[in-house]
Amino acid sequence: MPFPIERPRRLRKSAGLRRLMCETTVTAADLVQPLFVVEGEGYRRAIESLPGQFHLSPDEAALEAGKAYAADVPAVLLFGLPKHKDPIGSSAWDEAGAVQRAVRAIKEHVPELIVITDVCLCEYTDHGHCGRVVNGEVDNDGTLPLLTKIAVSHAAAGADVVAPSDMMDGRIGSVRKALDENGFQSVAILSYAAKYASSFYGPFRDAAGSAPSFGDRKGYQMDPANRREALREVALDIMEGADMVMVKPALPYLDVINDVRRRFGRPTAAYQVSGEYVMIEHAARAGAFDRRRAICESLVSIRRAGADFVVTYWAVEVAGWIREGQFEW
Ligand code: PBG
Repeated sequence: MPFPIERPRRLRKSAGLRRLMCETTVTAADLVQPLFVVEGEGYRRAIESLPGQFHLSPDEAALEAGKAYAADVPAVLLFGLPKHKDPIGSSAWDEAGAVQRAVRAIKEHVPELIVITDVCLCEYTDHGHCGRVVNGEVDNDGTLPLLTKIAVSHAAAGADVVAPSDMMDGRIGSVRKALDENGFQSVAILSYAAKYASSFYGPFRDAAGSAPSFGDRKGYQMDPANRREALREVALDIMEGADMVMVKPALPYLDVINDVRRRFGRPTAAYQVSGEYVMIEHAARAGAFDRRRAICESLVSIRRAGADFVVTYWAVEVAGWIREGQFEW
């Protein structure tokens, strides 16, 4: 009988012992801050669906990136909102587009901060799908050349990492080839490899103006019921040249994060998405629990599951807590 010899509580009885026994760490270096970039100058406006997040013109995005850098957060992830939308999302590869200009502005302001760009069409197409639509369906192979144009334009602007989030088959191979052919061999690819067709993207679609005008994304994003399929998706993306792989959303998919990290041992990211963010924000506001502790617990859980780093809207704020010794649950 282990009890009374074995008493797990012995190692929990003081804060010092609990610290010593703590198996999982979260540091500022594990966090990536997303930013929403719009065209224009001197523009900064609160996003209603994402309390605490802003639409930023490129110059304002550079200031925000400066805050991330000062907080020791190593990277930002940029999303663009164009003024002009059309069926093929042509603003997405505009040299003077919001993302392209923001990348340049950030690289000028804080050259050492890593700039990751989301590569997708849904913010740029007038129908809101992540690819070109032919006869009412998203045309996989016809979308690939458009995605490669976006990735190359981001790399040309100075992006360190491009992150295709569209879930077209074969996109990682196409993007890798296009980057290499254009002299961007050292630009890395973070693949949204296991991206689920999730209702937790709701607030983001509002913030990015990217909700599909008809149908849904189930024809290209994954079925939430599927775990083995995620491994297949990740395997394919690694074979095609993904340097890092991401699971998205995070908290409802901890099993998938764990599978991916164990099976492949590649740098594995998790995206704590907009719906996960507002769930905690709204519940905390309603007095359901302590906001800071809930956020910290969610992040330590995602790291415990196996994520090497986490894309989270709280990145800069949490980095501040870590610095002040207030990262606790
Ligand atoms: C673009 C994209 C989405 C998110 C990241 N990239 C939305 C979607 O797939 O509909 C969601 C991010 C979030 O919810 O925070 N395809």
